[in-house]
Amino acid sequence: MTLSLSAGRPELGALDVPLLVVALPSGPAIEGPLTALDSTLGGALARTVERRDFRGARDETLHLAGATSGPRRVLLLGLGKAADRVAALRRAGAIAARQGARMGVGELAFYAGTLTVAEAEAAAVGLAAGAWEYTDTKTPPPAEERRAPLTAARILADDGTSLQRGVVSGIAIAEGHALARTLGMMPGNLCTPDFLADTARGIASRHGMAVTVLGRAEMEALGMGSFLCVAQGTPQEPRLIALEYKGGAAGSAPVVLVGKGLCFDSGGISIKPAQGMEWMKFDMCGAAGVLGAMEAIARLGLKVNVVGLVGSTTNMPSGTAVKPGDVVKSMSGKFIEIINTDAEGRLVLADVLAYAKRYKPAAVVDAATLTGACVIALGHTATGVMGNDAALVQEVLQAGTRAGEPGWELPMWDDYKDLIKSDVADIKNSGGRPAGTITAALFLKEFADEYPWVQLDVAGTAYTESDLGTVPRGPTGIPVGTFVEVVRGRAG
Ligand code: BES
Ligand code: MN
Ligand code: ZN
Repeated sequence: MTLSLSAGRPELGALDVPLLVVALPSGPAIEGPLTALDSTLGGALARTVERRDFRGARDETLHLAGATSGPRRVLLLGLGKAADRVAALRRAGAIAARQGARMGVGELAFYAGTLTVAEAEAAAVGLAAGAWEYTDTKTPPPAEERRAPLTAARILADDGTSLQRGVVSGIAIAEGHALARTLGMMPGNLCTPDFLADTARGIASRHGMAVTVLGRAEMEALGMGSFLCVAQGTPQEPRLIALEYKGGAAGSAPVVLVGKGLCFDSGGISIKPAQGMEWMKFDMCGAAGVLGAMEAIARLGLKVNVVGLVGSTTNMPSGTAVKPGDVVKSMSGKFIEIINTDAEGRLVLADVLAYAKRYKPAAVVDAATLTGACVIALGHTATGVMGNDAALVQEVLQAGTRAGEPGWELPMWDDYKDLIKSDVADIKNSGGRPAGTITAALFLKEFADEYPWVQLDVAGTAYTESDLGTVPRGPTGIPVGTFVEVVRGRAG
């Protein structure tokens, strides 16, 4: 979909467009450019508001028939009593585009009164998100049943061209989201560790980044016994992928983004129940978030050095798979007792976090669909946030808020460490059910010991099993926005 901006006082009543979306706050007033639209509609707009048929509540929509000349259809869309207009516009953009796609209108115009640059960006991100769909593995319906895909959205603004900046950056972020969501939605037989590596190579060649892809042999040479024990049950080549974006001063310490890339997590020998196991194709959403963020960061041209690291494999049961009770030696030298082969994400990340030390990072932020316990603790509303550096935790929480991807901090008290003490090794990979999200992060902290580090547990937020209104069942694009905001926040 192409996104554009029309700056200058819009003539809403005379707009030649199949769908005009008018986003209005709670208790809307029909004034300014809306007055002309109301005349075109024969006063229907003002009557609708007077009768309180439309009140501007969050997500409320009301469809008006429109006019034969001027906008052919008008969709009123509520912003609610939003204190945060940026978040409200991101949300409204997504609902508008989804509605436009459902109606098959082909293109739409979006009007929400006067916009700031951040609001224009948010509307653009939302509109693009709402237009996203994954159709690669579906046969298209016959021509006569096909509805027109949404190919264009135009944001109307009351004022100047400075807003163009917001729309351009919104498009960059939206491309990152779309890439992450497509990777997430792809079935596990297509989105393999090799496919993620090829995707990274594509990003690297588009944006002039260095890319490194390691396989089993290279990881063996590095002593990555923790990562490799997860991969020993699958014939597929595991991949450690490194993308290096050099937007900052030469030699300035990079921000390192790390993603869990389990292209499928069956649980391994500690196999998961069959019910819902197909959702575990989404166990690479952290990795997808890193790749999407690298794409967006490069498009934004952020003046920061950034390294994106992905640890990718599949967790499968087989005669060669790692077993409960086995002990492996990680790249850091620490011995790990495997209690549960389904706690595999932390095993992969332990070695990737050790590998990250070579970049002498200013900060490391990892994202992983790490624990079911996080879904129990925070539901699908907030990402679990934990780290070894209070300032970085706050920085990441604020970045998430700006991106509309809220996080919530969980405590990393040493008391919880007793749960992952092993009789035979330095640490064990599962502390059982109590505080499962915290013990997973405490496990990772042992390997992230030389730099400020934050862990994002996106198990509940990276994908959704129910339609959220803004997003259909499937990937949400989280944590792309958080990653981008962390980096942008450091770009000054
Ligand atoms: N990928 C899962 C976590 C997960 C569960 C993500 C549900 C999204 C939805 C992870 O590898 C896992 O299986 N974790 C175990 C850890 C346990 C064995 C200590 C879990 O959460 O049950
Ligand atoms: Mn698992
Ligand atoms: Zn997993």
